Formats: sequence, structure tokens, C-alpha cells
Amino acid sequence: AMVKAMDESLGITVPVALHLDHGTYEGAKACVAAGFTSIMFDGSHYDIDENVAKTTELVALAHDHGLSIEAEVGSIGGEEDGVIGMGEVADPAECAKIAALGIDFLAAGIGNIHGKYPANWQGLNFEALDKIHNATDNIPLVLHGGTGIPADMIRKAISLGVSKINVNTECQLSFADATRKYIEAGKDLQGKGFDPRKLLAPGAEAIKATVREKIELFGSANKA
Ligand code: 13P
Repeated sequence: AMVKAMDESLGITVPVALHLDHGTYEGAKACVAAGFTSIMFDGSHYDIDENVAKTTELVALAHDHGLSIEAEVGSIGGEEDGVIGMGEVADPAECAKIAALGIDFLAAGIGNIHGKYPANWQGLNFEALDKIHNATDNIPLVLHGGTGIPADMIRKAISLGVSKINVNTECQLSFADATRKYIEAGKDLQGKGFDPRKLLAPGAEAIKATVREKIELFGSANKA
């Protein structure tokens, strides 16, 4: 997909995007103005006509500024106030409509949810993914809720058109585990171990290790 690279003055040597995740209509516009390099407009909670209308407008705006834009069909569930929504399975015909608007990537619900998966999770719906892939002219598909999806399901999803995978909770859990270990070992009480630059370093390193694992699993190593 088209990815506008971050400013070279930041010393970044690989192409990375500053991407808005699950943006509202107003939020997406604000991020274009603020200099983001990529946006997501999540119109999945609107009816399809309104999702089409708002996505159309934001595609023009984003591309005018050289930004890539992700849209969504079929909302991704997840835990909210202790209730776990199972997530919708997107309708391939609706996916085709949104994909045809010139977006750069499409997030489509296929039984994936944000956060940890419940013990009784049915897994990804590959039949739905296959239908969506066939209906959307090879548009790069986005898999949200990457935390806790087994490696074999990830590989199969990639083989069926998934080219961007969102992982958040797993990074947060890695950070929390490493930080807890540091404090439980009493390291914040030794010397200047309480300095946030020391106290938060193991957590930051743990996030990096998780990201490295994902880069390998997703087949992205050495492709930048
Ligand atoms: P997880 O927190 O479940 O990994 O989901 C991340 C995500 O999809 C963000 O949009």
C-alpha cells in the first residue's frame, strides 16, 4: 500500500507511518491537518450509505495530502465494561462497495475482536475472509485484534489477503509484565532505579521484543 514515510529529520531509517487508528470522521480530518502520514476512518457503526459517503469524502482529503487511508466494514468487537462483543462478520458486497472508493486498505470483521479472546472463541472465519478477498479486487486487508490469534491462523489469514495486522494489547501486557518484574525485584529501590528512564526501560525493551516476534511471524523481516 502507499505509505507516506515519516520525516527524515527524525532519523528514522525505515518507512514507518504515523497512523490514526479507528478514527471518527472529525478525528480523521484533525489528524490530516496535524501531519499524520496515514489515517483510518472507522465508519463501521454507520449504515453502509453513510459509511460510503463519509469514506468517499475522506479518501479525497487524505489523497490530496499524500496520506494513505484505511476504512472499515463490520465492526470489530471486544471488551467494553466487562461485556465481550463477538464482533461482526462483514458482508462481502458492502466490502466491495467500500473497497471501490479508492481506499488503500480495508479492515473487515471476520470474527476478530480487540483485547484477549474469550476461552470459547470460535477462531477467525476464513470462509468469510475468502469471500471478502474475492469480492475486493486484491485490496490489502487489515486484521484488527491481533493479540492472542494463534500463529497458524495468522499465517492462513495472510495467505488469504491480510497485509496489515494490528497488535496492541499484547505489547501492553509485555510492558506490564516486565515492569512488574523490575519492581517486584526491588530494583526501583536500588540506587537511582526509581528514575523513570530506568524504571520504564525494561517495559519498553519488552515491547520491542514483542514487536520483533511479530515482524518475524508476519513475514515482514527485512522487507522495509
Ligand atoms: P489488540 O489490542 O487486540 O491487539 O487489537 C489491536 C487493534 O486492533 C487496534 O486497532
